[in-house]
Amino acid sequence: MKSFIDKFTAFYGSAPTAAAMAPGRLEILGNHTDYNQGFVLSCAVAQNTAFAMKRTEGTVCTLRDFRSGATMEFDLADLDDVPRNGSRYVKGMVKELAKRGYKVTAFDAAIESSVPLSAGMSSSAALETAAGYAIGKEFGIDLDKAEWARCGQGVENNYLGLKSGLLDQFSSIFGKRDSMILSDFRTVEVLRTAALPEGYSIVVINSMKKHNLVDSEYNVRRADCEAAAKVMNSIVPGATTLRDISLEQLADAKGKMSDREYRRALHVVGECTRVMEGVKLLDAGDVAGFGDLWFQSHYSSRDNFENSTPELDYLVELAKSVPGCLGARLSGGGFGGITIHLVASDAAEEYAKRVSAAYESKTGTAAECIICNIGDGAKLIEL
Ligand code: GLA
Repeated sequence: MKSFIDKFTAFYGSAPTAAAMAPGRLEILGNHTDYNQGFVLSCAVAQNTAFAMKRTEGTVCTLRDFRSGATMEFDLADLDDVPRNGSRYVKGMVKELAKRGYKVTAFDAAIESSVPLSAGMSSSAALETAAGYAIGKEFGIDLDKAEWARCGQGVENNYLGLKSGLLDQFSSIFGKRDSMILSDFRTVEVLRTAALPEGYSIVVINSMKKHNLVDSEYNVRRADCEAAAKVMNSIVPGATTLRDISLEQLADAKGKMSDREYRRALHVVGECTRVMEGVKLLDAGDVAGFGDLWFQSHYSSRDNFENSTPELDYLVELAKSVPGCLGARLSGGGFGGITIHLVASDAAEEYAKRVSAAYESKTGTAAECIICNIGDGAKLIEL
């Protein structure tokens, strides 16, 4: 952190007055369940985005990105104007705070990050959260943690038009070192933590391919889920979201909705079930059973939710043939991005090498591999 603060000082000529850092996240089980008010098992990763700032005169903010070397500017005089570059996440946060009645004036800021970009590890949520925490400190804005997560979600939903749930910001804020967190997105709370079994690691393998219609596809999936929930509401009294539906109730209602809506709902209800089942298996020490749920989750993404890609499917297929892996699945929104693999720690490096070599020879693209450590949630940086 010191070198980041020093770079800020060298770039702007004086030290920052507030700084914070926030991690990326991995969705372990519970795909597209958050906006259906369901359950998710997730964790924060050790890779963080750091954000530092100090106030300045006028209305124009400067944002220096030390990773890319870009310097961006945006004007707080027109909060509705959405920047085309990465500063949109910071300006969007200022706008969300303004909507909540907090006035933020111009500042100079800088960021540094080790969270892979556009991969499905929520680099945008990490930036929103780190910016929010630092701005909050500088301007005396005291929100509870869930509300900070809602501010970040608001940036995505209202400013950028992606109707995402709370998972990314929530995990970035509530993550706990060395533990996964089981979250309930109806009550918006962490229900408990669950340790990754001793001797196993999460290997992230990035397909390096991103579908370019991600946001619109995401919103269409969400609309399908809501349509299915509406049908279920007319059958199951009191059911407001897919979270309230059991697999049996859904099966009974199969003929009452389109096949597509049924498969979307089956994925979400199945994922909520797998999350709860996964935690039980972990408690019972059944790591193989836990890993198998990752495969089931992926197959449901591929067949029911249709948010996989041939590249992601291939990475999961490799997990079945390369020794050392107990489970693999796409993680995050889908339509490209990353897969996560549950691998015996002593085999992890060799496993990553073999999978990425096979992936490269088939696709011509080198997959980025990270043996992930589970990190702590967002925090202020002491200056
Ligand atoms: C993206 C969204 C999250 C969540 C996941 C899928 O990461 O931002 O809110 O819906 O996809 O589980």
